[in-house]
Amino acid sequence: MQRKQLQALKDWFNQYVKGFYHDDPDVQAGIRLKEEHTKRVCEKILRIGSSLNLEPEDLYLAETIALLHDIGRFKQFALYHTFNDRRSENHALLGIRELERTGVLAALTEEERKLITRSIEYHNLCTLPPDLPDRLSLLARLIRDADKLDILEMFTASLDRKNDKPEAQQISGLPDTPGYSPVLVRNLLQEQLCYYDDMKNFNDRKLLMLSWVYDINFPRSLSEIARNGYVEKIVARLPKTEEVQKVTNICRPT
Ligand SMILES: [Fe+2]
Repeated sequence: MQRKQLQALKDWFNQYVKGFYHDDPDVQAGIRLKEEHTKRVCEKILRIGSSLNLEPEDLYLAETIALLHDIGRFKQFALYHTFNDRRSENHALLGIRELERTGVLAALTEEERKLITRSIEYHNLCTLPPDLPDRLSLLARLIRDADKLDILEMFTASLDRKNDKPEAQQISGLPDTPGYSPVLVRNLLQEQLCYYDDMKNFNDRKLLMLSWVYDINFPRSLSEIARNGYVEKIVARLPKTEEVQKVTNICRPT
C-alpha cells in the first residue's frame, strides 16, 4: 500500500462523512463525535505503530484501518439515532458492508483488503479470535489499543466535566444509581475482562472500562494510560470501598 492510496482514502472518508452532516444539532453532534474520534485514533495508531518501528507499508495499512474502523457509525447513527449496537446492529459489520457497497477499497490488493476488513470486524469483539496470522494479529491488536485509548480519553474527559449528567453516562444509557455489581469487581480482582451483559448501572460501565487495562497489547499504549492517569480518573468517580481500592492497585499500569 502506498502513501497516495492512503491520501485518496482520507479524501473519500471526508466526503463520505460530510454526506451525513445534518441540520438537527443532536444528529450533527453524534456524527462529529465519531469523525473527531476517528482522527484521534489515526494519530494514536501511528504513535503505537511507530514505537514498534513498523515498516511504512504497515503504518499506512494501520492508519487506513484506524480511518475506517468506525465507518459504520455514521450510517448507524443516521438510521437508528444510537451508537448502541444492541439497540441497532453491529457497527463493525455495517461498516464492512458500506466499504463493499461503495467499492472504496477496489484499488488495493486482495490481501490488503482482507487485512483491513478483518481488523475492522475484530476491533469491537470482546476478545480476538485465537491463532490469527501474524500480520493480521498485529494490525488487529493495534486498532484495538488505539481505539481503547481514545475511548478512555473521551470517557474520562466526560467524567471531568461538571455537567449534571456526564455525556458518557447518557451515551451508555445506564442509570447513574449508587453502588455497583459485585461480579465486575470480582472479574477485576482476578485480572479478567468485564462483560457488557453484567452492567446494571453507570458505575458498572466505569468498572468495565477499568478492565480494558487487561486487554492492552503494547507497552506504548500502557504508558499512555499511565501518563494520562485514566485509571485514577475513573476510580475517583467510583464508590470509595475497600475492594475498589484493591482494584485500583491491581489495574494501575506502571
Ligand atoms: Fe468501533
